[in-house]
Amino acid sequence: MATSTVKISIGVIGGSGHEGGGLALRWAAAGHDVIIGSRDADKAQQAAQTFNALLGARGALRGGSNLEAAAQDIVVLAVPFAAQQATALALREQLAGKILIDVTVPLVPPKVSRVQLPPAGSAVAALQRALGEGVKVVSAFQNVSAAHLKDLAHDVDCDVLVCGDDIAARETVIGLARDAGMQGWHAGTLVNSAAAEALTSVLIAINQRYKVPGAGIRITGVPRD
Ligand SMILES: NC(=O)c1ccc[n+]([C@@H]2O[C@H](COP(=O)([O-])OP(=O)(O)OC[C@H]3O[C@@H](n4cnc5c(N)ncnc54)[C@H](OP(=O)(O)O)[C@@H]3O)[C@@H](O)[C@H]2O)c1
Repeated sequence: MATSTVKISIGVIGGSGHEGGGLALRWAAAGHDVIIGSRDADKAQQAAQTFNALLGARGALRGGSNLEAAAQDIVVLAVPFAAQQATALALREQLAGKILIDVTVPLVPPKVSRVQLPPAGSAVAALQRALGEGVKVVSAFQNVSAAHLKDLAHDVDCDVLVCGDDIAARETVIGLARDAGMQGWHAGTLVNSAAAEALTSVLIAINQRYKVPGAGIRITGVPRD
């Protein structure tokens, strides 16, 4: 994986978990300054140590509270749907004026292979409404399986649909997708996040039917980076 030319400080809320942890690891491998956030700072430090061991000399991940993670320049929200809004709203002050990358898929267990979007239409668009215009919420990575993110020897064979109302913020997230080894695409305004969120249940159904850990998507017909 290539090293990024511009170092960005990134805080990953819920980075002790599967998806956030995989993204944190890949961004740290690309040379970004990454802090894993958790409700339990010790748990975050343990996760950071585990990832640093995988990265060897490049390992500079830190662990801390969700509050510390939300103080970074770019913040990622990677917690279960049931905790999405409350977690972000508790950090509203720290998130003001920043890009918040939300990876939430509104899965409703146990039928996670069925599309069950919330009444608002999209979990991420609903979060933008709850946080207000002061936070630039960008939806991304919903279709990327955590199973592949944490294996640095594995190319992430999945494109990233990037939705958001702020085009410059989308462009930044496309750059971060590139740094993590993926092709990101401008996929329209935040309401379009509904399509990415719904697609994840389709991919889970494919995983189950074909017994694979992480089916992905590819956009065709457009020149790739
Ligand atoms: N797993 C995937 O392949 C995948 C793919 C695409 C998108 N996503 C989306 O990414 C998000 C995270 O998924 P995941 O699989 O990484 O989940 P996870 O591992 O189950 O949880 C991620 C982290 O969320 C925090 N968390 C758990 N319950 C919480 C609560 N009630 N309140 C606040 N924080 C809580 C925990 O961190 P602390 O205990 O350290 O606070 C946990 O480590 C979900 O919205 C999911 O839909 C997942």
